Amino acid sequence: GTTLGTAAARSGRYFGTAISASKLGDPAYTTIAGREFDMVTPENEMKLDATEPRQGQFVFTAADRIFDWAVQNGKRVRGHTLVWHAAQPSWLQSLTGSALRQGMIDHINGVMAHYKGKIYAWDVVNEAFSDSTGGRRDSNFQRTGDDWIEVAFRTARAADPAARLCYNDYNIENWSWAKTQGVYTMVKDFKQRGVPIDCVGFQAHFNSLTPYSADFRTTLRNFAALGVDVQITELDIQGAPATTYAAVTADCLAVPRCAGITVWGVRDQDSWRSGDTPLLFSGNDRKPAYDAVLDTL
Ligand code: XIL
Repeated sequence: GTTLGTAAARSGRYFGTAISASKLGDPAYTTIAGREFDMVTPENEMKLDATEPRQGQFVFTAADRIFDWAVQNGKRVRGHTLVWHAAQPSWLQSLTGSALRQGMIDHINGVMAHYKGKIYAWDVVNEAFSDSTGGRRDSNFQRTGDDWIEVAFRTARAADPAARLCYNDYNIENWSWAKTQGVYTMVKDFKQRGVPIDCVGFQAHFNSLTPYSADFRTTLRNFAALGVDVQITELDIQGAPATTYAAVTADCLAVPRCAGITVWGVRDQDSWRSGDTPLLFSGNDRKPAYDAVLDTL
């Protein structure tokens, strides 16, 4: 029968979900996830604190549980995420300067070596821009120097030339937002100078404070025109209005370089914002938003 994954595949796109390793033992969860989606993002298990809890000692137990489940069920995997200001192990938080820069490089190399040739796309850097100004977010990585993002991308390209390399962020969906312009300027500069970047991930966590706007399509088009793929990487929408889910889906379909859509969890009860009931399933049931997405794909 038709599923989100098979429907998206008709236009050469994927439809993915975040997966949590702790839920792979829940048959109601794996039944829906296994049936509907053809791309998987580990929700937390590939983050820095999970994969390198002590410096130089890499742990892939939970990440591999998701990776193996995905591959055994015919799905591809998005790696999330190599460098981020959050979910940092304490050893990393205690480093500064060149030691932190080297720690970042070693982390990228360690994680990417384990999955070399097996990951569709990596979120190399996550959320490096400030919410209000359009400039960089203050973080320990930022304090090692402005070039930390391009160093991360060059390191990642050398570590696994087969993976698409993405910059991923939230509140960059509306073209009028300063943060969107800040990221756009960086990606344009990277493309002009030959810094290896293949894709931009738009998290797309829409709520009443940062609502969906129809100019998301303009944003996707403008980034794609820079010569990168665009991906909707963590979609959830407060209240899950069917019309908004349909509009986001149509926006991706309207942009040839929009490679696919990932929702940030399977059922409302799995959401990091479960109180917002922002996803496509409630318990075992498809919500109206599900039908709207499927009809649009
Ligand atoms: C969230 C997870 O969903 C939660 O389980 C965790 O407690 C915190 O992180 N942007 C991202 C994701 O890039 O990694 C975040 O995921 C949501 C916001």
